[in-house]
Order: sequence, then C-alpha cells, then structure tokens
Amino acid sequence: MRDVVKIENLSYFYPYSEVAVLDHINLSIKEGEIVVLTGPTGSGKTTLCLTLNGVIPHILGGKLDGRVLVDGMDVLEHDVAELSTKVGIVFQSPDVQLFSSSVISEIAFGPENLAIPREEIRERVSWAMELTGLKGYEERSPAKLSDGEKRKVAIASILAMRPKIIVLDEPTTGLDSIEAKRVISLIESLRNKYRTTFLIVEHREHILRLADRILLMVDGKILGECKPRDLFDDEKLMNSAYIRVPEVVKLFHLLRKEGVYRGRIPLTVEEALPVISRVPIAPSTVKSCNAPKDPRANEELIRMEGVSCGYGKQEVIKEVNVKINKGEFLALVGRNGAGKTTLAKCMVGLIKPSNGRILLQGRDIRDMNIADISPIISYIFQNPERQFFSMSVEEEVSFGPRNLGLSEEEV
Ligand SMILES: Nc1ncnc2c1ncn2[C@@H]1O[C@H](COP(=O)(O)OP(=O)(O)OP(=O)(O)O)[C@@H](O)[C@H]1O
Ligand SMILES: [Mg+2]
Repeated sequence: MRDVVKIENLSYFYPYSEVAVLDHINLSIKEGEIVVLTGPTGSGKTTLCLTLNGVIPHILGGKLDGRVLVDGMDVLEHDVAELSTKVGIVFQSPDVQLFSSSVISEIAFGPENLAIPREEIRERVSWAMELTGLKGYEERSPAKLSDGEKRKVAIASILAMRPKIIVLDEPTTGLDSIEAKRVISLIESLRNKYRTTFLIVEHREHILRLADRILLMVDGKILGECKPRDLFDDEKLMNSAYIRVPEVVKLFHLLRKEGVYRGRIPLTVEEALPVISRVPIAPSTVKSCNAPKDPRANEELIRMEGVSCGYGKQEVIKEVNVKINKGEFLALVGRNGAGKTTLAKCMVGLIKPSNGRILLQGRDIRDMNIADISPIISYIFQNPERQFFSMSVEEEVSFGPRNLGLSEEEV
C-alpha cells in the first residue's frame, strides 16, 4: 500500500519564536490507515495537523524545515486551496471553520468551490447531513447552534468535499455518547468503503480503539507508536501517554497487581464480562466508600423557580426548577442541543429568563448587576476562546480580580 502522507525531518517554529514546536518529525501514513495522535496539552498535535493542508506555513507563517507530502504533493509547493482537495481538516474548535448563514450552505461551500456539478453537490450535502445526523438543521444558522451541533456541521462540511485524507482534531469533544458513536461508525465506514485515510487527535478510548497505530507526541517529538491493545495492556506506557484510561482497564490492571488475573486486559465491559466470572475475587477485598457529607450543604446558594428562557421566539428551557446548596457538586447532563449551556448561562445572568425567577443567595438576579453576581457564581465557557480578550495570559488572569477591586498586591 502506498503512503498518502509522508513527513520527513519536519521541524517548525511559530513566528517570533525560537522554540521548535515540531522537532524533527518523521511519519508515513498508508492509504486507508487510521492513525491516532495522542500526547499532553501543548505538545504540538494541532500544529502537526495544520501542516498537512498548508495552513502552516502558508497562513500562519513561521519557519518550516523538512518535507510534508500529501498524496505526493509537497505542501510548500501548493496553496491551501489545492491541498484542501486532498486533505480535509476538522479543527479543534469548530467556530474557526464555520462562517455561512445556514447549515446547508456551509456544507455546500466546499464542493461548490471545487466546481462540482449542482446535482452532485446536492447529493453530497444530503449524504453528509445524513451521516452526521443533521437532517432537519438545513436552514439553521451555524452560529446559533450548540457547540456539539457545530462540531457535527464542521465534520459534515469536510465530508462533503470527499477528501482522501481526513484530519480530525479532537472530534468527539463536546459530543454526547450517541453522537460520539455516530462519529466512530462514520470513521469506520468511510475507511472501509472509500479507503479514506485518517489522522485523529484524541485521548479517549473509544477513538483510540479504532486506531491501526497510536502515536505518542511529547514536546514536538513523536516518541513512539503502538497498537491500541498493547497500549492498554502496559500500565507504564498508558501513564506516559496522557490518555483517558477506561474504568474496566483500570480494574483489570488492579486485579493483575493483586495477582488474581493474568490474561490480556479487556478494553470494554463486553469483553470483560466472560472473563470476570472466572476471576476469584474475595468479598473482603471489596470495600464501600461513602464521601463525607459537607456540613455546609444545607445553605442554599442558587434557586431557579419555573425558569423559561431561549433565543428570540425559540424557547429552549421550559419551566425549570433547580435548587443548589453550598458545597454541592452538580452534573448537568443531556443530549447535544438539550439546553445545558443555555441553562448555565441563565444561571449566571448572561441570558435573561422569559419567565420564572432566579435567586442567588436569596436575591433576585434581576436586581443584581455583574459586580453583585460574579463573587457568587462564575462561568467558564465551553469554548475558552469566547472568554478571552487580553493580550497576555497574565493580563487575562488578573482581569477578574482587578475588576473586583482587589489591591494590586492581592491581584
Ligand atoms: N499561533 C501560535 N503562535 C505561537 N505559538 C503557538 C501557536 N499555536 C500554538 N502555539 C504553541 O505551540 C505549542 C504546541 O501547540 P499545539 O496547539 O500544537 O498543541 P496540542 O498538542 O494540540 O495541545 P492541546 O492538546 O492543548 O490541543 C504550544 O506550546 C503552544 O503554546
Ligand atoms: Mg490541539
């Protein structure tokens, strides 16, 4: 099988930086292969992805040494538009790539640019929407979708271009379990049907399991590669790979340490079930653990009474009642687009309810301004880019405390 991606001795420096973010990388990917790239935050995974369609260096600048070939094309000799016909990238943050006024025009944009006949564009758009579960969203504005829905549009818009190579930078972040499964079966079916090649950045086991090869990236270098089974079988390797270890894998490593299990480590509950019944676990080794109750837990902090809210005429939250006490840890769960973010924004005063009332420490939020609200409740955005506006990390982090009127010393 031939190599569709070939990277030789690649080093890269962002503009005005003397640190090599990519450091002498060599990598070949065969047609139809699924390669998963993992490694700690800031290790250079996204940067490596961006070299494949020429965004690095043609748009972001900087200094690139070595060679990157995609389907035989040297990225230095072709522009981003040409390279995009071969490589489709779904960015880590979908906001970066969505700009059209409707979902359907967003997905049609790529094939329209490739000068594909109308009828075929229609077919491709419909196919991509079907695969990503976006039927019914045709006329919605991408800017007004939930983050999970945006990610699906970003994936669909790349699928519609039918690129040979698809690069997915953390594709299941923010997706609920059903949507994540949809992405997984999409990857498998595209590979099997069209021999599409995938480079995927991920830390989660459900994607790692799909990989033909897993590459570990640290400080701009690819330190090594392995098969998924070997990774999950080797505790030391797993700990150095910065991945999320499935609970079932942790359990079997524990049993192995206890000396009661000697076989291969199962990766899923389904694989574990036939094995676990043969593991001799003494009842005394199973201990229950109850977290101590927080004594402050009776002090009410937030109360929502019959709260409804939404965007324009569209009501997203309908008559919600919630009570949250001091020291409580609450998880808000639900499918993509169910209204979790909207509810949270409502709770911190970023969206006004159309009905009902919200009390923070007994005070109605309508009578409070940001200065009153922010010492009680803070909101960290799903997409961190939306909350940044300063020029440096230090300025950004000190903005909040300074705004609260703290002394410079304390800030
Ligand atoms: N536009 C940029 N200009 C300068 N430096 C950058 C730029 N983008 C990223 N970097 C730096 O390059 C390094 C690698 O970043 P990159 O985004 O490739 O990491 P990553 O492995 O994808 O991390 P994460 O897991 O957090 O997404 C980091 O030190 C980062 O601070
Ligand atoms: Mg990244």
